[in-house]
Amino acid sequence: MRPPARSRSSAGRQDGVKYMASESSALTAPSEPGAATVAEDVAILGAGWSTRQFLQTADCRTRACIGVVLDDSPDRRGDQVCGYPVQAPAECSLGHIRSVWITSEMYAAELTSRARQLFGDSVRIEYTFDHASSLPKLLGDAYLAVETAWEQTCAEDALWYSADRLYSSLRTRLDSLSTWRYGPRRQLAEFAEMYAALDGLITWPGARLANIGCGRYHPLGVSLLALLAGAERTSACDVEPLVDPRRAAQAMADLVAETLLDPRALPGDRTASRTALLARIESAVNLEGLRSSDLLQAVNPTLLDYRVESIYESSLPKEDFDVVVSRDVFEHLSDVPQALAAVYDRLSPGGLAVLFIDFSDHRRYQDARTYAHWSHLEDLDQPTHLHTNRLRFSEYPQLFERARLEVVGFEPTQIEPLPADAKMKLALPYRRMSDDDLAVSRARAILRKG
Ligand SMILES: C[S@@+](CC[C@H](N)C(=O)[O-])C[C@H]1O[C@@H](n2cnc3c(N)ncnc32)[C@H](O)[C@@H]1O
Repeated sequence: MRPPARSRSSAGRQDGVKYMASESSALTAPSEPGAATVAEDVAILGAGWSTRQFLQTADCRTRACIGVVLDDSPDRRGDQVCGYPVQAPAECSLGHIRSVWITSEMYAAELTSRARQLFGDSVRIEYTFDHASSLPKLLGDAYLAVETAWEQTCAEDALWYSADRLYSSLRTRLDSLSTWRYGPRRQLAEFAEMYAALDGLITWPGARLANIGCGRYHPLGVSLLALLAGAERTSACDVEPLVDPRRAAQAMADLVAETLLDPRALPGDRTASRTALLARIESAVNLEGLRSSDLLQAVNPTLLDYRVESIYESSLPKEDFDVVVSRDVFEHLSDVPQALAAVYDRLSPGGLAVLFIDFSDHRRYQDARTYAHWSHLEDLDQPTHLHTNRLRFSEYPQLFERARLEVVGFEPTQIEPLPADAKMKLALPYRRMSDDDLAVSRARAILRKG
């Protein structure tokens, strides 16, 4: 099979869109991966986020026949991807591999020649870019159809009508999703929640904010909104690098546009004029740069500082922040006490930390029919999806205390009681926990450094 050519737009495609078989594009997803390869060992190349998602949702028979998962770059947060060892080619025996799945669309051409090198010319290669999308398959198909037609005909004038229809329907749909990480709505909602949590506890004008685990998609949205609420400067860090710096710049441009179009949607000083708002935005972001380059070229690092690093090895200055915020990060950490100590060190005396913690089995975000928020508490031998740590609500207060962080407030923000028969299936330590504790699927902590 001919490898797919790297299309001019492939780098900008979003995770989650399902690419289906198409003769013209030569992208072919195995129709039933587990069934097709059950008798053989398979190597998976280009194991990254997409592969994790793929394995997560693939037919369980697939698990029986994975030979090796290969990737040149180690997983930063451990050596496991969905329980399969990630091995460099030199470290493992590859003689038994007859089939290869290539899961990275962007590097498909390179990985194809690597597969031929490693496994010989007779190996069967299949391309699967099925990221177990939460977006409807239909949109993936339509997207691909327009893309393919566009590239084949180069008749841009004739095609923009259909492309535009697709764009606006996708855009409307995405705009309505509160989970769309590139969307302005999510950033505004996240910031508003933090702002409300700190109401009466801090004064935004002059505040210095650090966002720990700011994400790989739109890492500086919350920071920009903090600046617009009056913060003096912000820092943000994440252990994972940006997925797509250009896309992140577009997302920032959308957020800027949204704030200028509707300043009343901003928490904070709503009396500020658009001119004042624009001046503040322009001090933090080079607006022309957002159009033409990537996010990090276009932001003022003094106001919007960004670092790719783990909280465990933070280079953020100590005692320098009035507010440390972290959303949906603590559940992913293997060493919560160490992270809390790092937060403590970054806070100035009297500074506040706001932690939003999601206790759910994260597989439910891909497959809510199979997984519930407690399903990762059933079999403790199974590695959890995205390295979630299984700590429960009731276990945190003593960790806060040990980190010398005074608890200003620690409350459940989402409660989902377990059905009567579910508790019996949990592993012993969780079966012993109270129903109330197990029912907490999200919580918010506000902590103060004394
Ligand atoms: C579920 S995402 C949340 C991202 C963002 N806060 C949001 O709400 O959209 C969790 C983030 O935590 C980051 N993370 C995990 N371990 C980390 C660590 N040790 N230090 C810093 N960030 C970490 C991950 O890379 C990921 O981007």
